[in-house]
Amino acid sequence: MKMDRWRASARRILKLSSRPNPAPRFTRDHSNPVRYGIVSSGLLHCSGGSCGGIRCYLGHKQSLSDHLQARAFALGASLIQIRCFGSIATKIQRNPKFATINSDDIRYFRDLLGEKNVKQDEDALLAANMDWMRKYKGSSKLLLLPRSTEEVSQILKYCNSRCLGVVPQGGNTGLVGGSVPVFDEVIVNLGSMNKVISFDEVSGILVSEAGCILESLVNFLDNKGFIMPLDLGAKGSCQIGGNVSTNAGGLRLLRYGSLHANVLGLEAVLANGDVLDMLGTLRKDNTGEGSLGIVTKVSILTPPKLSSVNVAFLACTDYLSCQKLFLEARRKLGEVLSAFEFLDEQAMDLALNHLEGVRNPLPTALHKFYVLIETTGSDEQSDKEKLEAFLVHSLEGGLISDGVVAQDIQQASSVWNIREGLPEALMKAGAVYKYDLSIPVEKIYDIVEEMRNKLGHSARVVAYGHLGDGNLHLNISCPQYDDAVLAQIEPFVYEWTSKNRGSISAEHGLGLMKAEKIFYSKSPAAVQLMASVKNLLDPNHILNPYKVLPQSLSFP
Ligand code: FAD
Ligand code: MLT
Ligand code: ZN
Repeated sequence: MKMDRWRASARRILKLSSRPNPAPRFTRDHSNPVRYGIVSSGLLHCSGGSCGGIRCYLGHKQSLSDHLQARAFALGASLIQIRCFGSIATKIQRNPKFATINSDDIRYFRDLLGEKNVKQDEDALLAANMDWMRKYKGSSKLLLLPRSTEEVSQILKYCNSRCLGVVPQGGNTGLVGGSVPVFDEVIVNLGSMNKVISFDEVSGILVSEAGCILESLVNFLDNKGFIMPLDLGAKGSCQIGGNVSTNAGGLRLLRYGSLHANVLGLEAVLANGDVLDMLGTLRKDNTGEGSLGIVTKVSILTPPKLSSVNVAFLACTDYLSCQKLFLEARRKLGEVLSAFEFLDEQAMDLALNHLEGVRNPLPTALHKFYVLIETTGSDEQSDKEKLEAFLVHSLEGGLISDGVVAQDIQQASSVWNIREGLPEALMKAGAVYKYDLSIPVEKIYDIVEEMRNKLGHSARVVAYGHLGDGNLHLNISCPQYDDAVLAQIEPFVYEWTSKNRGSISAEHGLGLMKAEKIFYSKSPAAVQLMASVKNLLDPNHILNPYKVLPQSLSFP
């Protein structure tokens, strides 16, 4: 009976021309490069119907602007926990060999960039000094907005000669404190370098400046019938240069591989101002999160947009079922599988309580686990049949206990909003200790349970992530930051991950947060090699000081 109703539902699955861009959509207000504005148009749509085991998704009609309003990350929003980077900062000494900005420096930069691209006003500096989580805060007195590679080159040449520390900054959405200064380093934001340089409609090769916002590139390509090979919740603010520098993972890695695999070439400026033109010639060369050079241009291979996209949101009773479901999805959905994301009950509860306009697509009860599956293909009929066969089989086999299939693009968007809204929900819930771990898939949930046992009622452990990539986002949420809670989490989380042959930084990078923890994931020889490369390319260590490498190796 359930199956029949499911089949009826499956027949009604609408094909989506492309996966929607879910909120949070941060658009940049160009008058202030690190303040977020909001896209506000359109309506969330609802449709009726219930089809048993796998149901059609019932949405509530709600103004999208209302929905997004609540997602505004306006500075000063009272719901968001603020923690200035205090206790760790005291452990790092400002390196006295760095010069401090003087009036001659300001004059030089104004002559070079023009007055309006040299920002010293409080508002601009406040925003540029603070990261997205509002957890790390620097005290830079100078924000520079270059418009060309030549200007970046002159900035770095000058800073190198004066021994001024520099922080390259993209959309400032990084989650490890890499994008903001630790002390008074000069901030160089690439946001004004935002032009598409060329697009080859045959090969799909896109060449753009580094400051292009990911979502702008997505929109540009959409008109050409192509997509970006990466997608992440911060797409409305993060820049392609920042994505490349962090080697961002995200929601499409399962299908298109890491950004490494898709970046064909780079133009970058080294610390001494030399321009390295490797556009279109090399496979990607990761620049170590802005510590080896500033990426100014990117050449990237983009896949064609496929016409048939389906999104299913499913419930599982235990983590083993999620794992088995993943295996099954790979077998049965094969080449059309484009995302396999999971969240646990705590994550769902958080989304429902803190994300405006989000409602539970499976409202009868909270389930222990949820899985979001997306398929993307070019043959509607065959894709539909594949998904249907997979869902029927999984339901019969007991791998899923409930589920919905999006009936249109709005419903698909609503489902994605739950998953992509989780970082924001955590911010609204209070303080969050965030860990981004690569762990063999079968062990992913072990650490979550161990952490829960360890912390008891003192904090809430929230788990979600890119299950298909073996990437767990382990979040410990508490009302406020508390060193006693932190002492229970660390070094346990790093030791556990290292013991289980995982990585302490699956996709977010090391930044400031994990610079001292690098040995949990890299051998001493590998770290030494990284330090040697750093010394070679940036002998004065002006680029992103105090980040990525431990202090002992950063300033020999
Ligand atoms: P920034 O945050 O400005 O900088 C990040 C690092 O790159 C810094 O060290 C900075 O110095 C360096 N950098 C920036 N631009 C340049 C440049 N042009 N040249 C050299 N160095 C540069 N990350 C993922 O991997 N997967 C996800 O799914 C994901 N989802 C996210 C969802 C949300 C809601 C948020 C807030 C963040 C998410 N992130 C994710 C983290 C972050 O968005 C990515 O790391 C992103 O790639 C950073 O890009 P950005 O332009 O904001 O860079
Ligand atoms: C995500 O997958 O949502 C991001 O990596 C951000 C996070 O870890 O919270
Ligand atoms: Zn992620």
